[in-house]
Amino acid sequence: MENVSYKIQDNCDGIDFAEVSDLLHFYGLSDLDKDTQKRVFENSYVTIFIKDEDKLIGVGRALSDGICQGAIYNIAVRDEYRGKGIGKLIVDQILSRLSGCNVVLYTHPKHLGLYEHWGFRRMHTSYAKFPQEEHYEQEGFFED
Ligand SMILES: CC(C)(COP(=O)(O)OP(=O)(O)OC[C@H]1O[C@@H](n2cnc3c(N)ncnc32)[C@H](O)[C@@H]1OP(=O)(O)O)[C@@H](O)C(=O)NCCC(=O)NCCS
Repeated sequence: MENVSYKIQDNCDGIDFAEVSDLLHFYGLSDLDKDTQKRVFENSYVTIFIKDEDKLIGVGRALSDGICQGAIYNIAVRDEYRGKGIGKLIVDQILSRLSGCNVVLYTHPKHLGLYEHWGFRRMHTSYAKFPQEEHYEQEGFFED
């Protein structure tokens, strides 16, 4: 992490969800509109927003019961801020708020190495049931 201080916000107060929606859409992580994205983040157990001054430069969130289980979603950092440790910062901030929980995530096949780089391990035993199964099938998410 560079010696620059970015602001870490862990609630949705004052967040421009049009920016969040654009960021996630741009990287192909979500197509939800800003109002729906707002509900998604507000309904999440952990939300992390990283700001440079007032500019939103990174996001991430997790679903959890707050006791024993958690799942990470929507980790994204603006292009011009990549490679400075911000993605890892977001994940670490989420993990610290899920202390004691089993934490799982799934990602696009092209990012598998990233999460291994950040200390996650591949599982043999995970299953998924998605409404848009064909899309995920085409993108190479499933083993069989
Ligand atoms: C993935 C993403 C969040 C990383 O953000 P970032 O701020 O650049 O990440 P960091 O600087 O904290 O860490 C990057 C590190 O991961 C490594 N890395 C990146 N992609 C990798 C991959 N596919 N496999 C292995 N390592 C990878 C980098 O080499 C770098 O290593 P280093 O810290 O040892 O130098 C960012 O590129 C992004 O927003 N991508 C678009 C959205 C996305 O794909 N999100 C992830 C899928 S949910």
